[in-house]
Amino acid sequence: MKEAFSRAEFIPRPDWDVLTLIDEAPHGIVSSSGILWHNNRRFTLRQLRDLGMGKSSLVGAVQQQCLKLRETLAKGAGTAVVINHQLHLSVINIIWYMVASRQFDAENKRLHEFVDLLSDLVILSNRLAIKDFMPWMQNVMPDFLFKRLIKYHEMMDMKEKFLQFFREEVEEHKATLDPNHPRDLIDSYLLEMEAKKDDPETTCSERDLMFLMFEMFSAGSETTSNTFTWVCCYLAAHPQVQRKLHAEIDEVLPSGALPTLAEKSRMPYTEAVIHEVMRACSLINFGVQHMAASDTQLGGYTIPKGAVVSTTVTAIHYDSRYWDRPEEFRPERWLDENGKFSMVKEGFLPFGVGKVFLFV
Ligand code: HEM
Repeated sequence: MKEAFSRAEFIPRPDWDVLTLIDEAPHGIVSSSGILWHNNRRFTLRQLRDLGMGKSSLVGAVQQQCLKLRETLAKGAGTAVVINHQLHLSVINIIWYMVASRQFDAENKRLHEFVDLLSDLVILSNRLAIKDFMPWMQNVMPDFLFKRLIKYHEMMDMKEKFLQFFREEVEEHKATLDPNHPRDLIDSYLLEMEAKKDDPETTCSERDLMFLMFEMFSAGSETTSNTFTWVCCYLAAHPQVQRKLHAEIDEVLPSGALPTLAEKSRMPYTEAVIHEVMRACSLINFGVQHMAASDTQLGGYTIPKGAVVSTTVTAIHYDSRYWDRPEEFRPERWLDENGKFSMVKEGFLPFGVGKVFLFV
């Protein structure tokens, strides 16, 4: 995986409809390749660093969502509750904050509409895999039947609803934009678009911005909320780990205090649990697929131009060459002899590798 994805030949994405959502051209980051991918990725990384990741305003937004989540979950304490949906709402709200400086009340109708739309789209887009994996079917079926099979019209309607959501947001941002104080991803993109308006090589456009916004939600929400759901599952299955984690939280955070990144270094066991969950659940096993840009060699195999290249992270996360007794859930493996968290693990790749990894 490391050999492949640190090489430029393996950066492009396949031109799959499941990634582009049958748009006329790729947009954003996840479905794009080449200069568009490069520009959007660089912009988004800078954006996440400048306005979000690790900054106090984002920490405040996360804390606020945590409090709301705790309040909601407390109502169901002592009974069996499905937590995934609540987690999803909180994560989506935080992404709304990063993208558009917006946070909705948990009961807000618009938020629920948006979350339902996102979930429906994820399910519906699976249909597009028929087109991507068995393109020949289009040639043996009448067009109307094939479109019905892949739910083409439903997909187009849904995409339009999303774009409408984002369009309204972009229009509102345009009307209130202060060039000296960009508030969020939309403001920064609008400023970048304006700065490059005379550049014939610019890849900025409003449609691209709307797809980029969509990708923040589609790539960032289920990944994060499902990881938290796995944290809960593993803690339920390993009560001794849960007790130890709880003890560390109680020790570092006085009753009622909310965590910030400043406490991170004093919570090695918490970090170890999160990392061990990410290893054990290997959430995005197949990653997001890439495509070979040219005929090339990899690990002694000839990979032809256009071949789709996929990962199998579970194989690495459960490989005994990297992990002692990999099938055991053991957060302690992340701690050194002094109980300090040690992140350096060669076989740990939950976010992908090198150039393809958004947060490096
Ligand atoms: C636990 C949480 C997350 C996990 C496990 C995860 C995992 C991944 C993986 C495996 C990839 C594919 C890398 C590749 O191309 O091979 C990816 C790409 C991506 N992720 Fe995440 N991710 C998470 C959270 C997020 C969040 C919160 C955001 C944004 C708000 C995000 C945005 C993206 C984007 C835009 C890409 C495409 C990057 C590119 O093409 O260069 N992810 N992620």
